[in-house]
Amino acid sequence: MALNDRKIAFIGAGHITNILLDNLIKAEKLSPHLPIVSDPDKNKLQQLYEKYKITMAQDNCDAVNKGDFIFINVPPQEAGGVISELSRKGVPNNKLIITLAAGIPINAYDKLGDNIPVVRALPNPPSQIGMGIAALSFNEFVNDKQKSDVFELFSSLGEYAVLREENINAVTALSSPAATYLFFQSLIDAGVRAGIDHETSTKIVYQTIVGALEVWKQRHVSPHDLLSEASTPGGISVESIFTLEQYDFTAALNEAISKGALKAKELGDAVQSTVE
Ligand SMILES: NC(=O)c1ccc[n+]([C@@H]2O[C@H](COP(=O)([O-])OP(=O)(O)OC[C@H]3O[C@@H](n4cnc5c(N)ncnc54)[C@H](OP(=O)(O)O)[C@@H]3O)[C@@H](O)[C@H]2O)c1
Repeated sequence: MALNDRKIAFIGAGHITNILLDNLIKAEKLSPHLPIVSDPDKNKLQQLYEKYKITMAQDNCDAVNKGDFIFINVPPQEAGGVISELSRKGVPNNKLIITLAAGIPINAYDKLGDNIPVVRALPNPPSQIGMGIAALSFNEFVNDKQKSDVFELFSSLGEYAVLREENINAVTALSSPAATYLFFQSLIDAGVRAGIDHETSTKIVYQTIVGALEVWKQRHVSPHDLLSEASTPGGISVESIFTLEQYDFTAALNEAISKGALKAKELGDAVQSTVE
């Protein structure tokens, strides 16, 4: 069965469901009328009907009955309630569960039934324009055909990477663009401090970043090689890099990602207790 013949159901009609519907329909991976959505807020369903001609499910169990692939796109603190609700009727193992509920582990879905295939997915914010990266973890019941369909679904949001579930917390920190935005802003501010007007500094930083990324992309070499190339012995770049390291730039970034991963684990542990 081709992916766009699959019936995809979404439990939760919030931001990420809108992003998925938008990108999947644009990429022609979903036919109108085939996406099924359930949400306690019927106005949200009506809006999605007007925008994407979705099928409105009566409730979450109806969404599971009608769908082949079931996205669980609810806030983490609501996931336990959804799992209990679905487990009361039971879920047959020909349905594929794709959970985006942050911090909720794959084994929390064991209660739904025997041998249920489950994918845990974590797309990052640039997914909204189809330039994201989604971390994907599978349990042992997801078959190869289902995996290739999941890859096709997430490629409409950008790239994807398959990881062991224990690495998801680190990915949460690593794939957040916040540190990258801080780096951009700090460079612009440094230009202003050196006497360049804000607009020109922004333009220079923007094009330097775009150009550097494009060189990395086109040349297929590591940042380490590019760094060596850009560092003329005794030159200006070497002086800047040496100064960054005097201020512990690499150590600070390492610590930032490691603390972010720890925070993701703490938040995950807190929501996991609500599904036990
Ligand atoms: N947004 C992102 O870019 C992103 C990226 C990765 C992962 N995620 C994860 O995806 C999940 C959803 O995120 P979101 O940004 O889409 O949140 P959101 O905008 O708050 O949407 C969640 C939706 O779920 C609905 N909902 C709540 N309880 C429900 C239930 N029992 N049954 C069915 N629907 C229910 C909510 O309805 P009401 O508002 O009417 O209560 C709301 O429409 C979260 O766990 C989040 O961590 C989001």
